[in-house]
Amino acid sequence: MKKIVVAIDGFSSCGKSTMAKDLAKEIGYIYIDTGAMYRTVTLYCIRKGLFSDKGLDIEALRQCMDQIKISFLLNSHTGRPDTYLNDRCVEDEIRSMEVSSKVSIVSTVGFVRSAMVAQQQEMGKQKGIVMDGRDIGTVVFPQAELKIFVTARADVRAQRRYDELKTKGSDPVYEEILQNVEERDRIDQTRAISPLRRATDALLLDNSDMTIVQQKEWLFKAFAEALERAK
Ligand code: DC
Repeated sequence: MKKIVVAIDGFSSCGKSTMAKDLAKEIGYIYIDTGAMYRTVTLYCIRKGLFSDKGLDIEALRQCMDQIKISFLLNSHTGRPDTYLNDRCVEDEIRSMEVSSKVSIVSTVGFVRSAMVAQQQEMGKQKGIVMDGRDIGTVVFPQAELKIFVTARADVRAQRRYDELKTKGSDPVYEEILQNVEERDRIDQTRAISPLRRATDALLLDNSDMTIVQQKEWLFKAFAEALERAK
């Protein structure tokens, strides 16, 4: 059976990771969360004390890049891959607020992006992969057989994040979350290297008013059609 590359890009908090994970599981493809890779580099920087009042020490990071080994290992309990930094699981730590607030800075650094992109291209060499991020269809796999660009209104995304945090037991402030969502959109879209943008041949999915079931149907149809075209 022919395998293809599925590239899913889009704004933060629009549910792309969930849909990418579900699709990969269903079709037996490998799932790679590239945001987790940038988050892992950020965690490394925090642990090494590379952030100060003056910002990120980019030269120091350049010196340590070859000490950062990122890998993914399937978690048999969740059925999903966990992220590892130098063979230690960091899946929970990379989702912390501290990492979330610093990752946009790390992901603007050119040598970090080229190291991540090279690793991502290596992972997708054999195809049979679903990769989500910001530059997968534009930079990492411009030849991907299926490209999807996911979006939703900022207020809808902020509400989803708010609900998620609330279920986890915290006491979020909706206005703060909305501000954070809008700020990350701005940074992602305006950075000099690989800004977030829709590839001209990417299918657009605006899931603002879609249910999970409708979204799933849309995605599976898009995958089936792409597979058919690739035959
Ligand atoms: O998808 P996420 O929110 O976990 O991503 C974390 C950050 O990493 C986000 O601010 C954008 C950045 N990122 C990127 O620049 N390129 C990617 N391919 C994936 C994520």
